[in-house]
Amino acid sequence: MARTPRVLSGMRPTGPLHLGHYFGALANWLKLQQSYECFYFVADWHALTTHYTDDARRIRDNTTEIVLDWLAVGLDPERSTLFVQSAVPEHAELHLLLSMITPLEWLERVPTYREQIAQLRDRDLGTYGFLGYPLLQTADIVIYDADFVPVGEDQLPHIELAREIVRRFNHLFGLEVDRGLLAATPEAEMARTRLARLLEGRLPAEPFDENFLLRLQASIREEGIENFLLRTRGLGRWIRYRPVLREPQALLTETPRFPGTDGRRMAKSYGNAIWLKDDPETVRQKVAGMLTDPQRVRRSDPGRPEICPVFAYHQAFSPPEVVRWSEQGCRTAGIGCVECKKAMAEHLVRWLEPIQSRRQQYARQPETVQEILRRGSVRARRVARRTMARVRRAIFGAPTGARAVAAPAVSQGRVGSEGA
Ligand code: TRP
Ligand code: SF4
Repeated sequence: MARTPRVLSGMRPTGPLHLGHYFGALANWLKLQQSYECFYFVADWHALTTHYTDDARRIRDNTTEIVLDWLAVGLDPERSTLFVQSAVPEHAELHLLLSMITPLEWLERVPTYREQIAQLRDRDLGTYGFLGYPLLQTADIVIYDADFVPVGEDQLPHIELAREIVRRFNHLFGLEVDRGLLAATPEAEMARTRLARLLEGRLPAEPFDENFLLRLQASIREEGIENFLLRTRGLGRWIRYRPVLREPQALLTETPRFPGTDGRRMAKSYGNAIWLKDDPETVRQKVAGMLTDPQRVRRSDPGRPEICPVFAYHQAFSPPEVVRWSEQGCRTAGIGCVECKKAMAEHLVRWLEPIQSRRQQYARQPETVQEILRRGSVRARRVARRTMARVRRAIFGAPTGARAVAAPAVSQGRVGSEGA
């Protein structure tokens, strides 16, 4: 039976959310939760990769703020799994294991790596954690077997990296050797003879026990699983390739950059943000100070709504007849910027109203919010644990098959490891 495709996305706890976050990500998250199984998490470890010198309490407070905003806009904890990254330590284990097979150059050539180091020159980002940040993101994604990751264009290289790492991991560890190969039956003996020929003297020696299987796996890995499988027709009953991790796909969200009050992209660092939790008076003040068409100096000058952020807001928050009123009034100098802004501010305030009342409701019950996150983490962890069991088995070589017995992965790992 086909399962519902799974979506995963995360947000760093940089602070409360603004309109740019809403139109850049949240609106899409809301839509996705209608038709997918969604996992949304607060990437608090990711915040540490760039902000490790900050007071960690800030990361915690911001986590609460973000979750309040999520619930306020209508992310539904009954539909979507909402959780915090650090509550699922399995992310860290997978990150570690993936790091073993990740070539350094793959991380160094992620475009945002050098860009960000240059941009954030006031911080020392020459750390291991910062370089490994896209790999942590890979672990975040694949630990949930995510099919889709909604991202903006800037994150596409990260998803591409995740896909490459998954392919590499699968090729290295996607081999399954059936325990039936150990049996003293004629078929198993024939298979071993063929294997001995294929491996040209590299077939491990008897006895046919657990060690034999692990060494056999190692020999095949050395040769390259794909290459080996090409030559092993007829051995499919004993030796199979099965991908361990799922390759995620980017779900590119085409979001026009939502402008801030000064017309540039809305960003906290530009001081041009309208927060989802701004009260009506603050909203009115911010709107009154918004940049307009700079060519409209006098009231009698006609303006160009297409370059005016106020008009972009009208399109997002005002009913169609008001949008038309603003557009025509602007082009013909029939209205002034002050009345144009005032009208828009009222529609924005009205648009924010249900969001803010839901936010206040949740803010009054911190235990409810904690309980939502706790339940989300439990659900997320259940999935993450299952993936990790699969990953450990693939790496540490517990063979599977009809007659497989569960053996402790750790002791097998020691026996089968190839030396440091
Ligand atoms: N890198 C994302 C950002 O900076 C946050 C993030 C962390 C994420 N892990 C993720 C997004 C996994 C999608 C999937 O916004
Ligand atoms: Fe912008 Fe409205 Fe002024 Fe035109 S009238 S420039 S849309 S604020």
